Order: sequence, then structure tokens, then C-alpha cells
Amino acid sequence: MKVATIDQCPVGMLKGVTADGVPVVLANVEGKICALEDVCSHEDLPLSDGELEGNEVVCLYHGARFDACSGARKTLPAVRPVRSYPVEVRDGEIFVDTA
Ligand code: FES
Repeated sequence: MKVATIDQCPVGMLKGVTADGVPVVLANVEGKICALEDVCSHEDLPLSDGELEGNEVVCLYHGARFDACSGARKTLPAVRPVRSYPVEVRDGEIFVDTA
């Protein structure tokens, strides 16, 4: 479903949205839009409160890092990955499939 326009998620930024009731964090990694579940696997807090550094999402709360596109865990204190979702960009609009 459509969650945002490309203008709302500039390069190097994160944006929290909702797709079919699922909290999703969009990341613009050098022009490529990626989507992860907006829930840190450490303590279930929103990843969209954090920052994008290169291709990694850095959790604001305790500094865990995840690959912004695959959701792979990069650093402690998180020990599990976060879920990633397929993204499509059409005519400047961002669609995320959380099914
Ligand atoms: S809630 Fe994200 S690192 Fe603790």
C-alpha cells in the first residue's frame, strides 16, 4: 500500500509510517528506499526515532545498528534482526508490502 511520497523521505533520512496497521520505518539509502518494521528487536522501541548512518539504522535508545535494507543486526545490544519489507517506488510514491 502507498505509505508516503519520495519527497517525504529525502536521502539519508528515516521516516516512520504505517502500512496496513504495521509500523514501518522507511530509509532513503543514497536514493534507494528500504523498509523495515519500525520496532527495534532490543526493547521494542521505534527505530524511526533514530538515525540513518550510511546504510545502517542506528537505534536512538541503546545504539543497536541494523542494515537498513535487509534488517540484519549489526551490533549489540540487539541480538535479533528486524523484519524487512518489499518496497516499490512508482511516480514518486512509495509502496510497501507488509503481507
Ligand atoms: S531499543 Fe533499540 S537498542 Fe535498545
